[in-house]
Amino acid sequence: MLLELTGVLDTEKLVNIRAMLEKVAFVDGQHSAGQAARRVKNNLEMQQKGQQAEYLDHLLMGSLAEHPDFRSGALPYRVAQPVFARYTQGMHYGDHVDDPIMGNGPAKFRTDVSVTVFLNEPDDYEGGELVINTTFGPRQIKLPAGHAVMYPSTSVHHVAEVTSGERLAAIVWLQSMVRDPGQRELLYQLDQARNVLLTERPDAEETKQVDRSYVNLIRMWSEV
Ligand code: NI
Repeated sequence: MLLELTGVLDTEKLVNIRAMLEKVAFVDGQHSAGQAARRVKNNLEMQQKGQQAEYLDHLLMGSLAEHPDFRSGALPYRVAQPVFARYTQGMHYGDHVDDPIMGNGPAKFRTDVSVTVFLNEPDDYEGGELVINTTFGPRQIKLPAGHAVMYPSTSVHHVAEVTSGERLAAIVWLQSMVRDPGQRELLYQLDQARNVLLTERPDAEETKQVDRSYVNLIRMWSEV
């Protein structure tokens, strides 16, 4: 399931994040790629250490964690520190799947869901689309600043070459409580219906049935 998350970051947060990204050091993104991905990766990434990285992490993850579609669609269990990426003219990231395991030592986790948060406006750069292969063919995604897209980490995807301007994005990986993408999609759809019922008919018997079924499916399918 590809899920667009609207309004993850408001204008104030975006301005803050972009101002901070102006000041921090970016390094060749190849350092964080697996062996196969390294060969096709050509971008810049912010160094993940220091106070500024912590502040950015806090700002982004705080907003993402509050987004109802993120919570419902990803069912996050363990979440990685985000990577802030910059693509200037001529940069791209060829077809790859994301690393299956991230983190170190006891903080290791499996990546089930990837999230790309767009940090500047589509008009700020030419090219630079995120292209995700789906069972219905490739999907090109270029969203307004502050919006995000969520996709299974198993999907083959690439970032098209930026032909002018600069593309700024943050990428987040997480382990979901529910490993199977098909089960996550069913749970997301059921949760959508459940929320409507809980608002419109909170006392109805069918609302209780749908709510309990949702809760018990989470129990049946989650690994924590
Ligand atoms: Ni990727």
